[in-house]
Amino acid sequence: MQNKSPRIKALLTPGEVARRSGVAVSALHFYETKGLIKSTRNSGNQRRYTRDVLRYVAIIKIAQRIGIPLATIGDAFSVLPEGHRLTPAEWKQLSSGWREELDHRIKTLEALRDELDGCIGCGCLSRSDCPLRNPGDKLGEQGSGARLLEDK
Ligand code: FES
Repeated sequence: MQNKSPRIKALLTPGEVARRSGVAVSALHFYETKGLIKSTRNSGNQRRYTRDVLRYVAIIKIAQRIGIPLATIGDAFSVLPEGHRLTPAEWKQLSSGWREELDHRIKTLEALRDELDGCIGCGCLSRSDCPLRNPGDKLGEQGSGARLLEDK
């Protein structure tokens, strides 16, 4: 009979976390190298995760789906104590902080969509007239060529 403490039994293998969270084991390792999740090692030097990691991986997946950079996710997680079980109130606060970034992304995409309206059916991709070809090209307004190199 194995003599495992409740704490050890509660730990999950990378495969178990992958299966339950829907991400690849390689993604878990990647998240770990980015400091987003943490593991411990068993006596055989194999990774083990506490069950809390499932909530963190779920948050990472949600954040990535809405385009939040991993660095921003890491910043949010970095203020939490190690091994902390994220509460619903903390998740609410965390997601509220990302709303502003999401609103900015939506505005940017709406502006891009509106610019695209003039291009639909056009196909010219003109450097001078197409807003999608070279948006905000201030150097291009000064003339052709490598403008920055000429200024030196
Ligand atoms: S493709 Fe012609 S204006 Fe953009």
